Amino acid sequence: MYFPVYRPRRFRRTENLRRMVRETRLSVDHLVYPLFVMPGKGVKNPVQSMPGVFQFSVDQLIEEVRSVVELNIPGIILFGLPEKKDELGSEAYADNGPVQQAVQKIKQTWPELTVITDVCLCEYTSHGHCGIIEGNEVHNDATLEILAKVALSHARAGADIIAPSDMMDGRVAAIREALDEDGFDQTAILAYSAKYCSGFYGPFRDAADSAPQFGDRRAYQMDVANWQEALREVALDVEEGADMVMVKPALAYLDIIRRVREEFDRPVAAYNVSGEYSMIKAAAANGWIDEDRVMMEVLTSMVRAGADLILTYFAKDAAGLLANRRV
Ligand code: PBG
Repeated sequence: MYFPVYRPRRFRRTENLRRMVRETRLSVDHLVYPLFVMPGKGVKNPVQSMPGVFQFSVDQLIEEVRSVVELNIPGIILFGLPEKKDELGSEAYADNGPVQQAVQKIKQTWPELTVITDVCLCEYTSHGHCGIIEGNEVHNDATLEILAKVALSHARAGADIIAPSDMMDGRVAAIREALDEDGFDQTAILAYSAKYCSGFYGPFRDAADSAPQFGDRRAYQMDVANWQEALREVALDVEEGADMVMVKPALAYLDIIRRVREEFDRPVAAYNVSGEYSMIKAAAANGWIDEDRVMMEVLTSMVRAGADLILTYFAKDAAGLLANRRV
């Protein structure tokens, strides 16, 4: 049926008509708020490259989590910084490390809040790579053992979901096995399955102090040009026991989110990463775009592409807008 009989504009005439035929809806239920936790007391450091984002010591983090809970955001993901970095990133699995302490405290106060922990070594290693260095390379299998230890320490602290972001081969299986051996069969794994070697992580490396000190991450993170490989990575992680899979970054990879959603029977998370956040903040600060509008447009596009969950530094801002129904 064609014009003039069929006219698509008929359903765009009023807001109520548009509401009735709207196909996807962003809801607070989709949002996960990332938080950076560091050693010390009374620390709340603004991250220069990410306006509105801070590094918190555990005591300050609790106040921030309170505001997250008040906004009805269902989950957070924690990234940690160590007291001292070393070659092996050994503080990553310290039972009294900032992440482990934060998880314990948060769970005491808000047992219902979903606490996800990022498992990686780049914040904890002196060289800033996501694994153990041998020669000039990240040694895959030696790294697996440490990642499993980190995951276990997070599970012992009470994390609901462990999220490995290192991109080593076989890490999901190694972590699942370690968790099950210690009786953590209810601790879930969210695998950063299709994690690309992206320039959009730039601001995060300030927040997590995790820039590689030599070389780059191309030998473990994915080539931005590849999509078939993303499907293979997801297939492997599902096979190894991932309960949920992630595509990261999100905005430049909506095609990957859509394909993963269509081809796999697992919830799909999208990581709206630091650079995606900061470029909107910067353009808005210059008066070039309407921040709220562009934020909601971008987050909605991720839901439309098929994401069940969005990890985003905009979570609080978006939850606030959604609660007030201003969008
Ligand atoms: C750690 C990790 C990174 C991010 C999440 N986990 C950085 C990286 O891989 O360099 C990026 C998150 C963001 O940019 O918001 N491996």
